Amino acid sequence: MSFEGRKPNLAIVGATGLVGSTFRKVLEERRFPYGDVYMMASAKSAGIKIDFDGKEYEVEELTERSFDRPIDIALFSAGGGVSEKFAPIAAENGVIVIDNSSQWRMDPTVPLIVPEANPDDVKWHKGIIANPNCSTIQAVVALKPLYDRYGIKRVVYSTYQAVSGSGLKGIRDLEEGLRGNDIMQAYPHPIAGNVLPHIDVFTDNGYTKEEMKMILETQKILGDDSLRVTATTVRVPVRDSHSESINVELAKPFGDVNEIRDMFAASPGIVVRDDPGNGVYPLARAAAGTDEVYVGRIRRDFSVDSGINFWCVADNIRKGAATNAVQIAELLLRGSFLAPSYR
Ligand SMILES: NC(=O)c1ccc[n+]([C@@H]2O[C@H](COP(=O)([O-])OP(=O)(O)OC[C@H]3O[C@@H](n4cnc5c(N)ncnc54)[C@H](OP(=O)(O)O)[C@@H]3O)[C@@H](O)[C@H]2O)c1
Repeated sequence: MSFEGRKPNLAIVGATGLVGSTFRKVLEERRFPYGDVYMMASAKSAGIKIDFDGKEYEVEELTERSFDRPIDIALFSAGGGVSEKFAPIAAENGVIVIDNSSQWRMDPTVPLIVPEANPDDVKWHKGIIANPNCSTIQAVVALKPLYDRYGIKRVVYSTYQAVSGSGLKGIRDLEEGLRGNDIMQAYPHPIAGNVLPHIDVFTDNGYTKEEMKMILETQKILGDDSLRVTATTVRVPVRDSHSESINVELAKPFGDVNEIRDMFAASPGIVVRDDPGNGVYPLARAAAGTDEVYVGRIRRDFSVDSGINFWCVADNIRKGAATNAVQIAELLLRGSFLAPSYR
């Protein structure tokens, strides 16, 4: 894979959506190098003008011909059906697709990457790279140092997920609901004033698809199919940032909780906010608009030999989607395009 010494040409598929507009913001902020950029969405948005990096771009309708031109990297966030159809077309045209939908995540030929955890998996892509589920990304950033240092026997996830995880219609449901108008476009029940133990569809085993994504994706990213993981995923009436209670049973003993706290503080992508006596712990509103994964409420789980509980918060649209995808694109550049010293 090479960009032949040029700045890569980019496509943003789903450029008008919540994740797509955050792609634009994150690419700008991180000064991602690019040559040409193409903004794509559905026929509905064709012709509208959107801003990127100080310039105005006209949105094109995504079609089977959209990749018949030199495009190096395409950031997809237009839903699973669009990714199923168009990611292979793009890949066949030599484009590297970084896909935000769940369509390709569990495909054994597609790497599923959290740059803090498994950056080297970028090397074996065959044209499509999957960005994990938002709730999985932040959890794995925190689990990786624990996994490497102590080994992990079992993980129990309980999530408190923001409505922005359901795109623009999730935000509309909450905002309208708060005005007393329960429109229910994104959810089967009103979300304002409610807590819904139901994200994505239910599967035959009683878990939701969101819960199964967290379980299977954690195993794939950490490269350990034997890792025992369970999850309960819950939608809460919060606009931005997912919060998670994570219980981990470690394979090896640890000294005291300070050891874990220091380890988190020294790990890439993690910020420790853990002074509960002074009201300091990770909060959804504080995490919104940032790229870090915040951990706090770190404490021993006394019910097992070597267990910890902690609270983990991150912006689901940034680290949980756009930022992680742009970081994957940066890995591609570091591996083959920018100076070798970058590796
Ligand atoms: N929100 C999150 O936290 C999050 C996190 C990780 C991954 N994701 C994934 O990212 C994707 C988008 O999520 P979102 O929250 O950004 O949703 P969104 O705000 O509803 O945006 C959807 C985007 O997809 C485009 N689109 C829809 N149908 C299309 C089609 N047939 N052809 C081309 N473009 C089409 C839309 O274009 P129009 O404006 O023209 O309709 C829009 O740009 C989903 O797969 C979602 O699962 C979301």
